[in-house]
Amino acid sequence: MSAPLLQVIVASTRPRRVGRMVADYIVERLAEQGGFAVEVVDLAEVALPLLDEPYHPRLGRYEHAHTKAWSATISRGDAYLLVMPEYNHSFTAPLKNALDYLNAEWRGKPVAVASYGGISGGTRAAAAITEVLVTLGMVVSSVAVAIPSVQSHLADGRFVGYPQADHAIDATRSALLSLLGPRSDA
Ligand SMILES: Cc1cc2nc3c(=O)[nH]c(=O)nc-3n(C[C@H](O)[C@H](O)[C@H](O)COP(=O)(O)O)c2cc1C
Repeated sequence: MSAPLLQVIVASTRPRRVGRMVADYIVERLAEQGGFAVEVVDLAEVALPLLDEPYHPRLGRYEHAHTKAWSATISRGDAYLLVMPEYNHSFTAPLKNALDYLNAEWRGKPVAVASYGGISGGTRAAAAITEVLVTLGMVVSSVAVAIPSVQSHLADGRFVGYPQADHAIDATRSALLSLLGPRSDA
């Protein structure tokens, strides 16, 4: 019996980003709570070029090694948590690019958003990405994490948790487990 694999996808890639700090905190919290095996998928490390496949991803006819590797990574995930900032009231370009690369790999799988930003907590970006996720056939959790004023929760190069964030992380984890439903290998 193996725990389902939750991939925590880090959607910001720029130097001096805070996204990895937020993701590392969430991963620690998820590990404490159990129920999932957790893997960080950092788009800065994946480093996909702008979509350069000649065929529509739904054909699965990938030509490039980076696409085949990306497909293999996402195929092993059972559910996803997108750790994403808000840029200009929307999602990041690297996240959209990474989503666009694949198709069947995403379809039918649960996904939740952990957004962060200024006063809005990235909720406009979360709303914007939902339409993309639904279009890909993903099962989008209505329970999410939103972290306002993210810069005020950083100290010594780490994200410092607080009760409301912890509660939201725990609730999102439970929602994703529910969306997965009973597993045949459980
Ligand atoms: C290009 C850019 C656009 C931004 N736009 C928004 C925005 O629309 N709303 C918001 O709350 N914060 C915005 N911010 C501030 C970010 O929330 C903040 O810089 C955060 O640290 C970005 O996440 P990152 O460090 O992981 O890249 C923006 C930041 C950047 C770099």
